[in-house]
Amino acid sequence: MSETLRVHAPGRVNLIGEHTDHTGGLVFPMAIDRGTTLTYTTADDVIELTSDGAPGALSISLPFEGNPDTVEPHWGAYIAAMAAEIGATQGMRGHVVSDIPSGAGLSSSAALECAIGLALGFDGTSLELSQAAQRAEHRATGVPTGIMDQLSIASGVAGHATLIDCHSLDVTPYAVPDDIDVVVKFIVHRTLEGSEYGDRVAECQRAEDEIGPLRLASVDDVERITDDIAQRRARHVVTENQRVRDFAAALSRGGYDEVGRIMTEGHASLRDDFDVSTPQMDAAVESINAQSGVFGTRMTGGGFGGCIVAICEPGALTDGWVVAPSAGARHIN
Ligand code: GLA
Repeated sequence: MSETLRVHAPGRVNLIGEHTDHTGGLVFPMAIDRGTTLTYTTADDVIELTSDGAPGALSISLPFEGNPDTVEPHWGAYIAAMAAEIGATQGMRGHVVSDIPSGAGLSSSAALECAIGLALGFDGTSLELSQAAQRAEHRATGVPTGIMDQLSIASGVAGHATLIDCHSLDVTPYAVPDDIDVVVKFIVHRTLEGSEYGDRVAECQRAEDEIGPLRLASVDDVERITDDIAQRRARHVVTENQRVRDFAAALSRGGYDEVGRIMTEGHASLRDDFDVSTPQMDAAVESINAQSGVFGTRMTGGGFGGCIVAICEPGALTDGWVVAPSAGARHIN
């Protein structure tokens, strides 16, 4: 009987820097104390898994060379895609338990991919793990997502959020002070498959065709874009990159009013220029922002639903999850 092993991968909440990663911009996510734990034993050339949160039993043979989309149950697509990406030939039998809801914008799929990679014996760097997991996400969903989710989950640091430059792939930890709460509230389930996520990536590309890389562009450069939609998307990205820099500086010096103002401006930019919020998300942000002790609130993640994140005085919000900055994906035996 082989030894029982465990891996854990956290979810992540993005504090600021939304829809910038796919243009090589700046993001500021935090790995959280909610995540996915996989308990398993090694097996020869099969993966057999069950999950607390989803029906069905997965059984695939390795090496996996098929189309993940045809895998049943459907949650197995991420697992098959990750196995294919890392060329796994040694399998496992196990069970997945997660307390991150799927379709909430907290990166449950990235957490699953990273956990599976570790359990299948991936032994590269956290950057390499995140890159394999990002390719697996693309293979499983066809959505051209950026690197933020997988890299923040693979390289999370306890007590810290991470400023990630999605061009250089440098990860800089920033301590999250303990005199604030980070609160996540789940508003509505959504999925990025079939959403306008891919359209937004293409619209940013159109802007780059006119003025070059958005990560290097100024607001004046954005003014020169002739395509109206592309211009609005670009204005979001360029101003959001600056918000990440300003947010990191304000957080470090305890300037929470400014932190909150930047979050609220970031939400408005996602709503008005990037068009990825919804009336329901806007109303939730507004109602949380009106509560006393709240510095700022915004939608978090890819949009079209999901969660909002707020930063507030300790204990000011009781409706939602107070999340703690946590370590990245790891073996926990
Ligand atoms: C999703 C994607 C990320 C990122 C965010 C928006 O979570 O997976 O790569 O683009 O949306 O910031």
